[in-house]
Amino acid sequence: MSLNPVIATLGRRLRLAVIGGGPGSFIGAMHRQAARLDDRYKLVASVLSSDPERSKGAGLELGLEPERAYRTVPELMETEAGREDGIDAVAIMTPNDSHYEYAVAALERGFDVICDKPMTNTLEEARSLHQKVGESGLVFCLTHNYTGYPMVRQAKAMVQDGQLGTIRLVQVEYVQGGKAKENDPDPSGDVSWRHDPAKSGPSLVMGDIGTHAHNLARFITGLEVAEVAADVGTIVPGRVVHDYAGALLRFDNGARGNFWVTQAAAGIENCLRIRVSGTKGSLEWMQEVPQSLTFKPLDGPSQNRTPNGPGTLPLAARASRIVAGHPEGFPDGFANIYSDAAEAIAARRAGTDPDPLALYFPNSHDGLLGVQFVHSVLESSNANGAWVKC
Ligand SMILES: NC(=O)c1ccc[n+]([C@@H]2O[C@H](COP(=O)([O-])OP(=O)(O)OC[C@H]3O[C@@H](n4cnc5c(N)ncnc54)[C@H](O)[C@@H]3O)[C@@H](O)[C@H]2O)c1
Repeated sequence: MSLNPVIATLGRRLRLAVIGGGPGSFIGAMHRQAARLDDRYKLVASVLSSDPERSKGAGLELGLEPERAYRTVPELMETEAGREDGIDAVAIMTPNDSHYEYAVAALERGFDVICDKPMTNTLEEARSLHQKVGESGLVFCLTHNYTGYPMVRQAKAMVQDGQLGTIRLVQVEYVQGGKAKENDPDPSGDVSWRHDPAKSGPSLVMGDIGTHAHNLARFITGLEVAEVAADVGTIVPGRVVHDYAGALLRFDNGARGNFWVTQAAAGIENCLRIRVSGTKGSLEWMQEVPQSLTFKPLDGPSQNRTPNGPGTLPLAARASRIVAGHPEGFPDGFANIYSDAAEAIAARRAGTDPDPLALYFPNSHDGLLGVQFVHSVLESSNANGAWVKC
């Protein structure tokens, strides 16, 4: 593989604009780091706040050229489309209700899109966006960043390789404690976008972390959720938005699953965890210890797989930048999603074929299925946990 497949293909890095992720946003800084880690993008333009003056000021603070630190999204789209050295791609990390509008505006200008999850709040928007991506022929990458971890890629590759046999059972959980406090959400009287369902969507916990858990289970197993029986609600008294969802799953091959997500488990930090069991053995992975993938074969001792350790398969090897034994983490996994999307974008622009292993980043189809899953879970919960087809 070339040192930089984007430069090898286009003779330059991709020019990127970011929308969202201004002061106070954790994920905005992650997106910008992820874009830079492998030198496949150059950040050249931004809209960092819904407030025009704060947006301009924050762009200047990031060191952008003053005329490309934009105040508003329409200004960015129009000006960049008219520049000879205009942007190639737009990365969107704004509150959920604006993803659709900004993604469509970018596609209409011919910009490839990187967008944070959930793809949209409504099913209609998700279907429409997926259709528009298909019609445009542009690249759409959805940052379900957990699928970028080397050991998640290894788990997927082991399933594809048949090392687990036929998948029978999947347990996936995403348990956080950040919203466990009884006086949350608005001790000061402020209502952030997350606590406003018009902005955060029909279920906060499902949009924030449920879509990640659903995507992780699909990514590793290659299976789709066919039916769901769910219970969604609010644990912290007085809260309006959902902070808990649990569900039984039936996958399309008959496998059974268990899905459990909450943001109200006091003391827990960021426990995204999955166990997949097949006829030949089981895999276990946990985001808080991302370097370790446990494989428990039916007829042998338990094995610990590590990035670039013995038994690493090609999909995982290309996702790890360093030799075995050195820690990698959240920013590195996030960067794998960006770097793979960059390869696809560069190849599309050059009319060449990317490395097939670069095409494992989540796309608008994954985004649509994520939004569909949220709505099926809610439909089931509203019917007192009845089984609902996804
Ligand atoms: N992939 C992940 O793991 C992950 C993690 C956290 C958040 N997210 C997603 O990122 C998005 C933002 O979440 P957050 O935690 O950063 O929220 P946040 O409230 O911390 O930050 C939002 C940022 O976007 C800016 N903004 C708001 N409206 C804007 C607009 N119209 N134009 C430009 N900028 C605007 C705000 O000024 C702020 O800087 C959400 O869709 C969320 O689901 C993803």
